[in-house]
Amino acid sequence: MAFEITINEGRHSIDVDGDTPLLWVLRDVLGMTGTKFGCGMALCGACTVHINGDAVRSCITSIDSIGDSKVTTIEAVGKTPAGQKIQTAWLDLEVPQCGYCQSGQIMSAAALLASNPHPTESDIDDAMSGNICRCGTYVRIREAIKQAAQSGG
Ligand code: FES
Ligand code: FES
Repeated sequence: MAFEITINEGRHSIDVDGDTPLLWVLRDVLGMTGTKFGCGMALCGACTVHINGDAVRSCITSIDSIGDSKVTTIEAVGKTPAGQKIQTAWLDLEVPQCGYCQSGQIMSAAALLASNPHPTESDIDDAMSGNICRCGTYVRIREAIKQAAQSGG
């Protein structure tokens, strides 16, 4: 069945079964491999994208649930004000180690900053607790979110 969805401001016609996860569509149908597969069960956060600005796990989001909502992925989050601040801070503090979890981390952090420009420690904990990093970059992630929150613009 064909679905019309909006990803990064572009319209895409996707011919897949309705229960196909958005993650599969992004990676396998559209070749947008910035969004990562980790667990496939909403446990790790590697597949995080934005739907209407909210951080969601694309591995458990079926294509038929998206409708007219706007999907933003790591490929375009840097065009949003919050995403740009987060990516700048990530580079400044050299947050990634292996990098595998990092697009999901950035997507969760950008959604947090867009909805809450000055998050407290516990706000950061709440927003980021579902994003696992096997390399243990959590301290740098936290510092980068704080730096992004303090940056102007
Ligand atoms: S791949 Fe979606 S949460 Fe792990
Ligand atoms: S940087 Fe390696 S898993 Fe997070």
